[in-house]
Amino acid sequence: MSKRPDVLPPMLAILNLALMAFALVLLFLLFGDSVMQSFRNRPVPMDMTAYRPGSGTGGMADEDQIKDGIHVATGLIYAEGFDIVRGTCTACHSAKLVTQNRATREGWTEMIRWMQAKQGLWDLGANEPIILSYLATNYAPEDIGRRASIDVDAIEWYVLDLEKEQ
Ligand code: HEC
Repeated sequence: MSKRPDVLPPMLAILNLALMAFALVLLFLLFGDSVMQSFRNRPVPMDMTAYRPGSGTGGMADEDQIKDGIHVATGLIYAEGFDIVRGTCTACHSAKLVTQNRATREGWTEMIRWMQAKQGLWDLGANEPIILSYLATNYAPEDIGRRASIDVDAIEWYVLDLEKEQ
């Protein structure tokens, strides 16, 4: 009986420590995951979680892909003046309105004047000749397009003699 009061205080101290340790472990098990998660997530930008390859809205690589001379994201022909045209002519509407149209320089000028008069298109300033050259060169009317038409007179016609072949 006489020994107990001496033993008890150290035992209580150990028990106390064990309880505290147990409580800490319990707390960590309960909340540790979410605490660690918030540390882990911090350097990752939010929109990266929404990004899917091929969505066309995320990475620069997708956005600026050029395939067969066509800027994939807009469908515009990748040629001189492209950057200015993309910057100007996709601000209000899809580039499809551009790519589905063909006109001479005069025709394109008229469309621009119409948009300026009716649709709030701003003064294009020094960019206008660059834009017009791009449009007139790459979206010219079919018959005077970039591809030279076939010179029918220059073709040497011949009669296909099937019997001679056999
Ligand atoms: C301020 C806004 C705005 C900008 C910038 C703009 N457009 Fe437009 N554009 C319009 C609107 C509005 C229409 C009519 C859309 C519709 O009919 O659905 C239009 C229509 C068009 C059309 C169709 C015209 C038709 O006859 O059907 C073409 C082609 C066009 N735009 C080319 C361009 C080009 C090239 C540029 C760059 C120089 C450009 N747009 C920049 C507003 C704009």
